[in-house]
Amino acid sequence: MNIEIGLAGPDDATPIAGLHGTTFARPWSPEEIRALLTGPGAIELTGQLAGQSVGFLIARALSFEAELLSIGVLPDYRGSGVGHQLMAALLSELTARRALSLFLEVDGTNAPAVRLYHRLGFRRVGIRKQYYKIHNGGRSDAWVMRKDLEVPPLTEDVPLEQTPMGLR
Ligand SMILES: CC(C)(COP(=O)(O)OP(=O)(O)OC[C@H]1O[C@@H](n2cnc3c(N)ncnc32)[C@H](O)[C@@H]1OP(=O)(O)O)[C@@H](O)C(=O)NCCC(=O)NCCS
Repeated sequence: MNIEIGLAGPDDATPIAGLHGTTFARPWSPEEIRALLTGPGAIELTGQLAGQSVGFLIARALSFEAELLSIGVLPDYRGSGVGHQLMAALLSELTARRALSLFLEVDGTNAPAVRLYHRLGFRRVGIRKQYYKIHNGGRSDAWVMRKDLEVPPLTEDVPLEQTPMGLR
């Protein structure tokens, strides 16, 4: 399933909060999302299919390190590569911004997410034991994962401020 990936910004906080609320048990409010999107280094991508947003991603790139803050795909569209396409777009954006690595944190029992990150080359670099509360009153571990990015050599032909998404 090929999606169109677009950039979003603080003005899109309300629809993004709607998507977030559909994909996560603990939704973030539009205000929380707006605060993230107005913060330094924010990157917000949405995946559109026939004009409808079916997925989103929020990340932050500060200095040479980047962090994935949230990714979600509407339940009916999962397992069709939407998450992979959003992550691939983020990775090329980060490479163009000359980020050296991307970190994320995931519930180690979240099999689809862990599979997606492994396939993209993320490796587990830490564990926060019993970090997440889960629905049955139990707890699960948070995995910290990292992917190192290849930084392209600087050339005079490609100005630093020009990135695939037209950011900066
Ligand atoms: C995690 C998430 C973003 C992935 O999006 P997606 O569009 O389904 O991702 P993709 O289709 O690109 O890849 C998912 C992979 O998990 C696999 N998968 C799906 N269900 C699975 C399961 N129950 N167990 C193991 N693997 C599973 C898919 O087959 C696919 O792997 P493949 O490409 O090797 O076939 C999506 O499941 C989601 O929104 N989950 C709820 C929110 C969430 O957990 N976000 C991550 C927080 S860190």
